[in-house]
This record gives sequence, C-alpha cells and structure tokens, in this order.
Amino acid sequence: MTSPHPPFLILPFLTLTSLFHLGHGTQVRHAQYHTWKYKSFPSVTSENLCASRYCNGSLIACTVMCSLHPDCTSFTYNPASQTCLRNVGDAHTFGNSLISATDDTHYVGEVLEDVRDGDWILVFRGQSYNGVSVKDTWEAKGQASDLDLVHLNFDLISKLGNNQTAHFRSRWLDQWPSDTIDQVRFELYKDGATVVRLVFNGTGSSYTDWFKQSRLIQSSYTDLMNATTKFFSLKGIVFRHFYVSTSKVKECHQHGWLVIEDDVSNMCRWSASQASETFPHMIYSKLDTLDNWNEENYGLADVMAVFIRLK
Ligand SMILES: *[C@@H]1O[C@H](CO)[C@@H](O)[C@H](O)[C@H]1NC(C)=O
Ligand SMILES: *[C@@H]1O[C@H](CO)[C@@H](O)[C@H](O)[C@H]1NC(C)=O
Ligand SMILES: *[C@@H]1O[C@H](CO)[C@@H](O)[C@H](O)[C@H]1NC(C)=O
Ligand SMILES: *[C@@H]1O[C@H](CO)[C@@H](O)[C@H](O)[C@H]1NC(C)=O
Repeated sequence: MTSPHPPFLILPFLTLTSLFHLGHGTQVRHAQYHTWKYKSFPSVTSENLCASRYCNGSLIACTVMCSLHPDCTSFTYNPASQTCLRNVGDAHTFGNSLISATDDTHYVGEVLEDVRDGDWILVFRGQSYNGVSVKDTWEAKGQASDLDLVHLNFDLISKLGNNQTAHFRSRWLDQWPSDTIDQVRFELYKDGATVVRLVFNGTGSSYTDWFKQSRLIQSSYTDLMNATTKFFSLKGIVFRHFYVSTSKVKECHQHGWLVIEDDVSNMCRWSASQASETFPHMIYSKLDTLDNWNEENYGLADVMAVFIRLK
C-alpha cells in the first residue's frame, strides 16, 4: 500500500464484538482494537505473544493472545513474519510518541478514552512557539482533542513535538469534576525531560483556580511552598499566564519561577531576548529556587502539560 504522507493510517477496525473461546473455554475480554500502519512503538519487548500452540500467527490470534495477557495493552505485529511482540504501554500514554517505521510493522492496540500517564489523565498539553495562545486554548469551551483518539495526531501527546504542533485540549476541561478531582499536576518538559513539576490539591477547584499557592502540595522548587509571591495564577497579568513571580510590574517582573508568555514582548530586558521568536514562550527558572531572569538563568521549555487524578 502506498500513501504519500500519512501521519498514520488506520486499517479497518478489528472489532472483537463477541467473546472468544480458546482452549478450555477461556474467555477473552470484550474490546475494540485498532491497527495503525507505518508506525511502530518505542518500547517493544522481545516477548512473543504468539508462542503457544493456540496461536496461528494471524492478526486475530495475536489480538486474542494480547487480550489474555495480564500486561499486554498493545503489540507490534509483523504480517510477513507473523510475529507479535508485546509493547510496554499503549499509543495513548502521554509522552510515548510513536515513531515512523517501515511499512512492515503495525501497531495494534485497544482504543482508550483518555490519554493517560499512569493514574493521571492528560487534560492539556501546550506547545511552545506554535503561535497559538495557551490561555485562549485552555478557555476555548467545546474544543476537545480527545473525542476521537483513533484520529489523534500523536505529536499532540508527545513530550517532544515540534513548533508546528497544536495544543491538546481535553473535554475534561469543560467538565472539571471538582468534587472528584484529587490532584492536579503541572509539568514543563525540555528535550523530553521534566524540568518543572508542581502538584496541586484539586478538591473543590475550578478549571481556572487550581493553579494557586494555597493549593500547592509538591514543588520541584524548594523555596516555592512558603515563598511570598506577587503573582501565582493561571490568569497572571496581560499576556503572562501560568505566572509565578515575586516581582511587581514596575520592577519588570525579573524575579520568578515560571511564566508562559502568550505574546511576544520586549517590555523587559529578559523578554526582549525572546522578541524574535513566535509565542508562546515557556520560561522557567533553571535553579532549584527563584531566579533573577535578567541574569539569564532561565530555561525555555518545549512543552507544558496538565494532568488530573481522580479520587
Ligand atoms: C488462524 O485462525 C483464525 C481464527 O480461527 C482464522 O480465521 C485464520 O484463517 C487462521 N489463519 C491462518 C494463517 O491459519
Ligand atoms: C521551529 O522549527 C523549525 C524546524 O524544525 C526550526 O528551524 C526553528 O528554529 C524552530 N523555531 C523555534 C523557535 O524553535
Ligand atoms: C485538599 O483540600 C481539601 C479541601 O480543602 C482538604 O480537605 C484536604 O485535606 C486537602 N488535601 C491535601 C493533601 O492537602
Ligand atoms: C513551610 O513552612 C511550614 C510551616 O512553617 C513548615 O512546616 C514547612 O516545612 C515549610 N516547607 C518548606 C518546603 O520549606
């Protein structure tokens, strides 16, 4: 099959609508599986799911073997050699960006409802330098990237992405079940590594007021929990959002932990050095503590993400 430039290609759905019976009446769980061609999974194990005499090497047989395996959520299938190797995790795990592969292997996995990272559900992923406001997207009611995960561009749930990637906005932002949210996790990533992590108490929060100091439970900055801050909010000020700083406006905001700038500005010395780059700019202190950004000790993150964990 030739296709000029598919982000991924979906083969017709393989729906396991009835329970399979194998061997001595073993029942397989009810699930829908999809196959993505031209993509392979980054963490493929060497475990061959089709080693038993019940497995004849067909896609269906491999799917059944995966269903039966307690640790299998997806596998990499090679039709030519009729092998199916178990993957670690699934395509809709945050950060597991699928990579381009030769046309001879297929990713096969269950279709899930949420993008997850363990117990955590991804509710937002922001991309730096793509020219689209993080805050406007956060507040764009009705916009949901996770209604159809089968067609989701995997760059939208990668820790890397590129500056052409859109923001990911989940339907959870419109629902925000404040009574059942336990915690909210905010992270920034640089070259795939987590550079900032803040965890908030989400109980009773709204989708815009969880990001505040009185809710902070864990912080990768050692001084932030008890610091006196001037700004600590998602709303921030003007185009400075997710803003955590001790400095007043007239001091040109140079003392801070992090900020997402949803516009290009040359108002302050530190932001002027970014003035030639498309927004958003995801600026963070590279120290364990507050930083003076005028001393250029700040980093520029590639991606931000927000997760919720339910009670
Ligand atoms: C393997 O088994 C499946 C299900 O019984 C059957 O549909 C398929 O034709 C078989 N494939 C091969 C290659 O024998
Ligand atoms: C955006 O991506 C292009 C292509 O990879 C690259 O040349 C450019 O430097 C990037 N811009 C920024 C601000 O990262
Ligand atoms: C989170 O907030 C709720 C409501 O204010 C409170 O009852 C609970 O103890 C807090 N949990 C933590 C871990 O701070
Ligand atoms: C913050 O202050 C409280 C009360 O003084 C103290 O118990 C706690 O250890 C401090 N936390 C940090 C991270 O310094």
